[in-house]
Amino acid sequence: MAEIIDGKKISQEIKDEIRDKVEALKEDGIETTLAVILVGNDPASGVYVNNKKKACEYTGIKSLSYELPEDTKEEELLALIDQLNEDHSVDGILVQLPLPKQISEDRVIRRISPDKDVDGFHPESVGRLSIGERGFVSCTPAGIIELLKRSDVEIDGKDCVVIGRSNIVGKPMAMLLLRESGTVTVCHSHTKNLKEITRRADILVVAIGKPQMIDGSYVKEGATVIDVGIHRLEGKKLCGDCAYASCAEVAGKITPVPGGVGPMTIAMLMANTYQAALMHHGRI
Ligand code: GUN
Repeated sequence: MAEIIDGKKISQEIKDEIRDKVEALKEDGIETTLAVILVGNDPASGVYVNNKKKACEYTGIKSLSYELPEDTKEEELLALIDQLNEDHSVDGILVQLPLPKQISEDRVIRRISPDKDVDGFHPESVGRLSIGERGFVSCTPAGIIELLKRSDVEIDGKDCVVIGRSNIVGKPMAMLLLRESGTVTVCHSHTKNLKEITRRADILVVAIGKPQMIDGSYVKEGATVIDVGIHRLEGKKLCGDCAYASCAEVAGKITPVPGGVGPMTIAMLMANTYQAALMHHGRI
């Protein structure tokens, strides 16, 4: 039976570490500040944004909250981003996605100054990651690397398989595993012989977006399975992209849903915001 990788516990450890570091900066007269922008009324986005603000409060990061109506024009949002880019008291800018359809996410992401891009979505951040330069890394894959390291899962030289090729998770995940000297394969909806490939993985990261698609027959004995998916089944129970019980019988270590990858995303947003404050004050 697999050992559970406890994302709730590890994310709490990270938030506690950040809280101490933010406090130390405060003692030097530096306040760490994150601007959080929510456009429209998407209920899930509202919950995510609230959780982000709560995490700011916990870690001592000042959060500035901007809640704009559903019919906000793209130019209005871009003007707000310009203003926050120029404001030296703001370290990080987060625009919650998805945005209403009249606004181009691509133009919004590109408008955020790369040195305040705590989501790591700007093409400059993505480019820096791919050439191994310091920059902001997308929070979910960065959180997965922390989960692996803090659970003593070695990446160096291991066969790592990522299922999913999104800009937010799959692609940056592959780059990060490569940076840690893993041997990385990326699978996606056009991949042939998926099972053949996943059964070779020492580390299997599943980010497909389909409930319970991966069962134990896709997993090598003793492998580490990281489940990025989150879905609500009928009857309201949450599940991931993996059939948990079946995978847990074969895996050596596994993340549960909920309480695995999910809590790490916000913890890494706090870590990125702290990193932004250090950069803006010439500390790194
Ligand atoms: N929507 C879903 N995930 C994310 C995220 O990581 N950042 C932002 N800004 N929006 C999201």
